[in-house]
Amino acid sequence: MDLKGIYSDILFSVLNEKIEYSEMYSLIEVPKHSHLGDLAFPCFQLSKIERTSPAILSKNIASQLHSPYLERAEAVGPYVNVFLNKEKISKDIIDAVMHEGANYGSHSFGNGETIVLDLSSPNIAKPFSMGHLRSTVIGNAVSLIAKKCAYKPVKINYIGDWGTQFGKLIVAFKKWGDIEQVRQNPIQELFVLYKKFHEEAEMYPELEAEGRRAFKLLEEGDEEITSLWRWFRDESLEAFKAIYDLLGISFDSYHGEAFFNDKMDEVVELLKDKQLLEHSEGAEVVMLPEHNLPPCLIKKSDGATLYATRDLAAALYRQREYSFNQALYVVGQEQTIHFKQVYAVLEKLGYEWAKHLYHIPFGLYLKEGKKMSTRKGRVILLEEVLTKAIEIAKQNIEEKNPHLENSEEVAKAVGIGAVIFHDLKNDRLNDIEFSLEHMLTFEGETGPYVQYTHARAQSILRKANVPFSELKFDGLHDEDSWDVVKLLQNFPDVIKRSHRQYSPSVLAKYLVDLAQSFNKYYGKVRILEEDQEKINRLAFVHSVSTVLREGLSLLGIKAPEEM
Ligand code: ARG
Repeated sequence: MDLKGIYSDILFSVLNEKIEYSEMYSLIEVPKHSHLGDLAFPCFQLSKIERTSPAILSKNIASQLHSPYLERAEAVGPYVNVFLNKEKISKDIIDAVMHEGANYGSHSFGNGETIVLDLSSPNIAKPFSMGHLRSTVIGNAVSLIAKKCAYKPVKINYIGDWGTQFGKLIVAFKKWGDIEQVRQNPIQELFVLYKKFHEEAEMYPELEAEGRRAFKLLEEGDEEITSLWRWFRDESLEAFKAIYDLLGISFDSYHGEAFFNDKMDEVVELLKDKQLLEHSEGAEVVMLPEHNLPPCLIKKSDGATLYATRDLAAALYRQREYSFNQALYVVGQEQTIHFKQVYAVLEKLGYEWAKHLYHIPFGLYLKEGKKMSTRKGRVILLEEVLTKAIEIAKQNIEEKNPHLENSEEVAKAVGIGAVIFHDLKNDRLNDIEFSLEHMLTFEGETGPYVQYTHARAQSILRKANVPFSELKFDGLHDEDSWDVVKLLQNFPDVIKRSHRQYSPSVLAKYLVDLAQSFNKYYGKVRILEEDQEKINRLAFVHSVSTVLREGLSLLGIKAPEEM
């Protein structure tokens, strides 16, 4: 229950439904100066209904407000101002956190419904890009937050392992490739071959046709070509898995585009049956003028199927396999039109569930304010980023805490956490300026800052060495803790909003606020002072640490006990 909610409930019982609950709730404000009260209800609206002056109404109402949650109520001109009983409210909140532990902030509104997430989905034989990192960490956090709201998330890594480009790659490998070199450094080597293909094709355009032929053979299941393709795929997946291990992320399915190669005839048949397929410039397409969209390409002139065709087959398969209630596609915003087309075609096919497919787009990583580009040398390799981040974290730890026992493990948690947090704290749709130094500082809005605050709380609790069962809270009696308590109380609502907007940044920003607010308290109050309030303060610190840890874990970030 939020503070406005507490006040609304009390007001509602006095106002006798003269004004609607939701309207009353939305009218409540926070007074400009805290000495005037914690919350205020303006009586202008009510005065129109009651035909009485607001100042008379406010006096009248103030005299009738009584509740254990209120210290007192006062009429200030047309406003009914209240001072909350912070002791009682803070006790309720801290008790809830202590009692529920990591479950605090959970919701049940998901009702066990299934949400399928299409996330990460890198392309084989190519370096794992920063864009795929965004999809991976945003998708993972969205799934963890959905789970906290009682949904059942299914994470699908829709690997990009099919398409004409693999015909080209196979031609390049057969012409210029070396088995040993690919074995030693698969992704890099294959990427070099792929680029060479394009350079050569500028001089020898007939290569393009060769590439298309090779892909056709792959689609038909030619033995030699298929085994090469499978090898490229296996090598790539192994390299990707090393990255997923570092990030601490796993998937429920790795069914990529190739998996749907033999499932596309069904889509084509369905489209034919409904007479949705049309010839256009030699290709077969679905026209979407009523959606104001360009035609959706289903089959090329040479019979090869396309990206959209595979996505259609994948959607049908997923609905059958998981009977999902929602399907989220966590993919960069440059693919917006593609997903609109796919959803529109499914709608035209008459599928009710097509209404529950959502594209969750995100912005780009920028380097020096500009879009990254391989050609201009502004490219960032994820593996290098992660290794470098762990290295910097290690240096920081060695400076601050040279005797830390499991420093390797902590450096990994901090380095990786920094990269993930830096991504998630930004509004999804914004572009992000890439800066390793920035994301790894222990101050400011960073992952290490939140982790460090959690470790600080843990260290206080370790020093105090009081068993959990002896911690007790009967209300705080200082002003600084109140700001923190209000934030703790917001946590369930933050989770709900993060989920509703599919926006982990709501949670990430909240964690920065909570950490800042707690550090302010820490700077002013002597937590371990031996007095009657000590147990109180420890229970409070324990609660803050619980929420920081749970919040980080919902973003896919570890919270070391010490750092
Ligand atoms: N592999 C694609 C790419 O890198 C992303 C796939 C997104 N998911 C989907 N169902 N189309 O661009």
